[in-house]
Amino acid sequence: TGGYDFVVVANRLPVDRVTDADGNASWNRSPGGLVTALAPVMARAEGAWVGWHGAPDESLEAFDDGGMRLVPVGLSAEDVELYYEGFSNSTLWPLYHDVIVAPEFHRTWWDRYQEINRRFAEATAAVADHGATVWVQDYQLQLVPQMLRASRPDLKIGFFNHIPFPPLEIFAQLPWRRRVLLGLLGADLVGFQRQSDANNFLRCVRRYLGYTVKAQHIHVQDDDGQPIRTARAEAHPISIDSAQITELARDPEVRARAAEIRSELGDPETVLLGVDRLDYTKGIRHRIKAFGELLADGDLHVGQATLVQVASPSRERVEHYIALREEVERTVGAINGEYDTMSHTAVRYLHHSYPIREMVALYLAADVMLVTALRDGMNLVAKEFIAAHADNRGVLVLSEFAGAADQLRHALLVNPHDIDQLKGAIMEAVRMPGTESARRMRIMRRQIVANDVNRWSRTFLESLEGTKA
Ligand code: G6P
Repeated sequence: TGGYDFVVVANRLPVDRVTDADGNASWNRSPGGLVTALAPVMARAEGAWVGWHGAPDESLEAFDDGGMRLVPVGLSAEDVELYYEGFSNSTLWPLYHDVIVAPEFHRTWWDRYQEINRRFAEATAAVADHGATVWVQDYQLQLVPQMLRASRPDLKIGFFNHIPFPPLEIFAQLPWRRRVLLGLLGADLVGFQRQSDANNFLRCVRRYLGYTVKAQHIHVQDDDGQPIRTARAEAHPISIDSAQITELARDPEVRARAAEIRSELGDPETVLLGVDRLDYTKGIRHRIKAFGELLADGDLHVGQATLVQVASPSRERVEHYIALREEVERTVGAINGEYDTMSHTAVRYLHHSYPIREMVALYLAADVMLVTALRDGMNLVAKEFIAAHADNRGVLVLSEFAGAADQLRHALLVNPHDIDQLKGAIMEAVRMPGTESARRMRIMRRQIVANDVNRWSRTFLESLEGTKA
């Protein structure tokens, strides 16, 4: 065994490629919510992170960084096509997000998904110490818990699903539904964002595996139907590093940048903001449509209101993402062509990603945050907006189909499919008196500060440690 007693397994390794002045490339650990939350756990234990470094056809040696071992799993260009773009992002992603677009089922993709899950399980088994705790992350790796348990029954295994778990009636479509459930049930604890996700999973386990389920406990059976152990399914809503965001929001430079952004936008009365990966689950088209109609109706005017839409590039070779980009860009172009003036724009569309400092400045510059996901496991952007507003300014319009709606009950909750309701909520947000928006913001900020990402990882791991000897 490899000597690490806490191992995180995720499709992505938290690294970025950096190139120095002489053009030499190397890899550095990149910031991100999950790694920030786990760094303290990693520092207390001998921690390792197993994942893909994001570059097809490139191999990379394991290295140490900031108190943790980074263990790269290599993927060929064909692995990326079949396992990542194919089964993960064209089968599971749409299937688990309410079939917003049609999932595709291909046996060659499934075969490669199994193969790559095995590669991750083997890399993990090679670094995990005897009796180590292993925490597997997300839908790309649902078979890893079972594979790992088969070779390493000494391990304590947790799994966390960052995206929704679909209702039985939708999960039913998956030709390999039993295999996926068995894969997940290799874990001692299977974590979900919402209680409704855990309930969906438990119903599927009962129906397709015939296991007895009592409350959140699942009696896992062997091939002869004999109960052999207990696994659990629980809701553990993920969050953000609230302290880091709050600190950035108080930084005078960041605050100056927020003021500068408003003036660069031509000092409109109202800045509306959307921040998403460019993904069809995010409801970007619905949001832009509602905003465009408010301009057409004369409820909002260019110069008075601007929508800033950050759409960070994502999964750019996958068909539905290419189609979405074309549609969003066509719609933004049409609205701007219709309503822009020489000095002001209706929609400031940015197909980029930005460092967290710039994002916090943008949150501070915004009056109204629009999170209109059609389905979203959690949505951390909503929580970052709240954390950034230590000034209690700003209004959050939030889709009831985002996991964050379970915690942020004082947002203006909307069904984004209902464009009239969405328009009404935007206008309510634009017109909301400062005392009322501050009251809502205070309540939500208390929630976010108390339930940060450290608490998420701590409560998950405490629950996992309590599962078995
Ligand atoms: C979602 C998923 C993550 C994924 C991220 C970015 O948040 O839950 O597992 O890493 O999107 O997507 P990408 O495909 O670029 O890793």
